[in-house]
Amino acid sequence: MAELINDEFKNDGIALFADKIKALFAQNEYSPKAYVHSFGCQQNVSDGEKIKGILNRAGYEFTDTLENADLVLYNTCAVRESAELKVLGMIGELKHLKEEKPGMVIALCGCMAQQEHIPEKIKKSYPQVDIVFGTFAVGELLEFLYRVLTQKQRVFDISEHNNTIFENYEQVRENKFKASVPIMYGCNNFCTYCIVPYVRGRERSRDPKDILAEIKLLIADGYKEIMLLGQNVNSYGKGLEKECSFSELLCMINDIDGDFKIRFMSSHPKDATKELIDTILGCEKVAKHLHLPIQSGSDDVLRRMNRQYDSRKYLEIVKYARSISPEFSFSTDIIVGFPNESDGDFEDTLKIMREVRFDNVFSFIYSRRSGTKAAEMEDIITYKQKSERMGKLLSLQREVATSNYKRFVGRTVTVLVDGLSKKGMLTGKNDEFIIVEFEADEKLIGSYVEVSITDVHNWALVGKLI
Ligand code: 5AD
Ligand code: SF4
Repeated sequence: MAELINDEFKNDGIALFADKIKALFAQNEYSPKAYVHSFGCQQNVSDGEKIKGILNRAGYEFTDTLENADLVLYNTCAVRESAELKVLGMIGELKHLKEEKPGMVIALCGCMAQQEHIPEKIKKSYPQVDIVFGTFAVGELLEFLYRVLTQKQRVFDISEHNNTIFENYEQVRENKFKASVPIMYGCNNFCTYCIVPYVRGRERSRDPKDILAEIKLLIADGYKEIMLLGQNVNSYGKGLEKECSFSELLCMINDIDGDFKIRFMSSHPKDATKELIDTILGCEKVAKHLHLPIQSGSDDVLRRMNRQYDSRKYLEIVKYARSISPEFSFSTDIIVGFPNESDGDFEDTLKIMREVRFDNVFSFIYSRRSGTKAAEMEDIITYKQKSERMGKLLSLQREVATSNYKRFVGRTVTVLVDGLSKKGMLTGKNDEFIIVEFEADEKLIGSYVEVSITDVHNWALVGKLI
C-alpha cells in the first residue's frame, strides 16, 4: 500500500534525525527532557503517545514539570473554541519561562495548529513558539526539532499529506492496562458544525492485519482493555485492498486469545446497522455498550447539521438493540444551541433523551468554528438561552441516569479498576461504561474485579468488592 511505503520512508527519517539529535546532546553528556501535553479527544491523546515514542527515540526523557523541560510540546484540539483559548493562555504563560531558559524549545501541534490562521497568529503574537506543525506532519517532528536546535530557525509546517496513516511507530503509552488503537484516520462526513474533516483530512482505514498485529502485542504485554478509535468507526474498511467491514474487524479481534475487553468510539448513526448490534451482542469480549452521538433530537436541526439520519432512524436502531437485549446501553453526544435552534427543536432533544434513556450524555454548547458551514448560519439565540437549555438538559440527564443506574443495585458487575477517586475509593467502569466506586486495596488497579452494587451516587454506582 502506498501509505505504508510513505511511513517506512518516514520511519527512516525519524531514525536519521533521532541519531543526529542524540549526537547533539551527547556532546555535552546531557539527557534532554520533554514536557508533552495532549488536549481533546482520545485520537489526539493517541497521537501524543506516538509523538512521545518519536521523542524517546531521539533520547528525550519525560517530565511533568514545565521548569525542568528542554522541550515543551502542546498537542492541541480545535473542536471547540474553549480548548483553543486555553492553549493560547498556556503558551502566553511560557513567555517568562523561556526568557529565563532561552534554550527551551516550544512546539505546538495537532488539530488547532492545522488550521490556516494559526501559524500566522503564532508568527505575529507568540515569538516564544519555535515549531508549529499540523496533524499530517507528526513523522517530521525530529527534523523540525533538529532545525531549531542547530539553526535557531522557527519552523511552520501545516502541509497536508492525505495518505498519512502512522504505521509502525513506537509509542509511549499513558496507561499500562488500557490501550487506544486507532483503526482509521480522518472523516468524510462534513457535519456542518465540525472542524475535524478540515484538520484531519479524508477517511482512511488501517489494514486489518496491522491492527491485529498491534493488538496481539498489547495483549501479550498484559493490556486488559483495547479502545478502537476513529471519527466514524462503523464506516471502517472503505478503500482497503481487501474489503473488511467494522463488524468483521470486531469479530477478528474478538478471536484473539486472552482476557481483555474491546471498546470502540465513535459510531455514526447513519452507518449503525442491525449487523453491528448483533456483532456487539455476539462477541463475548466486546463491551455491551454503544456510544452513538445523536447531536440533536430535532429533524430540522439534524438536516442543517448534515447528519444524514433523522430521529426515526436513530430510534429504530435503539429499538432493535433493546428488542434483543432490553437493557442495551447507549451513550451519546449532544450539541446545545446549534444556530437558530428553536425552543421546539430543543424540546425534541429532551423528548428523545426521555425515550432512549441514555446511560451517559456528553453535552456541549455549540461553538462556532470558522471555515465550517454552520459558522455562516444566522444565529439569533443568545448565549444565555443556550446556557439555560444546557442546565435543563443536564438536570434531565441526572434524573434519567440515576433512575437507569438503579437497575444495577443488587447485581454483581465486572469492573476494570482504573485508579483512585477524589474520595480515595477505587474507581473503574463496568461493561456499560458507567463509573463504579468501591473500597479496596490500590494494588487491584489494572485488574478486573467483581463488585456487588449497593447504591447509586452522583453519576456513579457504589458497591462492595466481592
Ligand atoms: N461545537 C460544540 N460541540 C461540538 N462537537 C463537535 N464540534 C462541535 C462544535 N463546533 C461535539 C460533537 C461531537 C463531539 C466530539 O464534540 O458533539 O460528537
Ligand atoms: Fe465531525 Fe461529524 Fe466527522 Fe464526527 S462525523 S468528526 S462530528 S464531521
